Amino acid sequence: MTRGRGPFRVAVFASGGGSNFQSLINHVSSGDRAWSIDLLVMNREGGALRRARSAGVPVHIIPTKDREMSEIAQDTLRVLDEHAIDIVLLAGYLRFVPSEVTSRFSGRILNIHPALLPEFGGPGMYGMNVHRAVADSESTKIGATIHFVSDLYDEGAILGQWRMSRRPEDSAEEIAAKVLKIEHRLYPAAVDHLCDALIADTRPVRMVDVDVKNSFEEHRRKSSTSIKLTEEIQ
Ligand code: GRF
Repeated sequence: MTRGRGPFRVAVFASGGGSNFQSLINHVSSGDRAWSIDLLVMNREGGALRRARSAGVPVHIIPTKDREMSEIAQDTLRVLDEHAIDIVLLAGYLRFVPSEVTSRFSGRILNIHPALLPEFGGPGMYGMNVHRAVADSESTKIGATIHFVSDLYDEGAILGQWRMSRRPEDSAEEIAAKVLKIEHRLYPAAVDHLCDALIADTRPVRMVDVDVKNSFEEHRRKSSTSIKLTEEIQ
């Protein structure tokens, strides 16, 4: 482990297509970052595998079906150790991460959730289930959340959120598409931010909400560095 100094070695965990994994790869390869992507962990084969191969990122598949949690934990920690991983990023990883892993990586393991936690989180709230729940709700905002991973689904401390106004006529599919674009900006910015805090040996402050009111175009014009950082994480 690099511990404290950087550059930090990152493992991404994914189960599916891996568009967030791709946005993280694009970010590290487009500038001088304090972190690199050194491993993709999947519980089964999925689209992210192809992305890893074309980026030259090693892949490890750790099956979880019908296996004891302790066995999964052991395999996962061994692989993370073999690759000297400092930070774990869950990006569409649809399995429970064993507590041995979350405690070993405490403060260094993040997840991205496609809604504004604490609303629309918890068991069963993944993929289109989340977007349908948002579409069926009275909520006036949509967005994404980056949070630290704890033993409880979607309940670790929030590191950052990006929110935008919801058009009431938007379908679940339209919300999903808008939120995914937000995710692709928010996750790399949050990892930069976490690494800055680790290097400075401080607790990261929360990345405060960005509210661009109406137009998604405005999101695109904003650089991720314009996300203001103020509030202490509890
Ligand atoms: C994203 O919406 C993420 O928030 C959620 O799972 C989805 C993964 O999408 N946890 P992708 O595989 O990164 O395209």
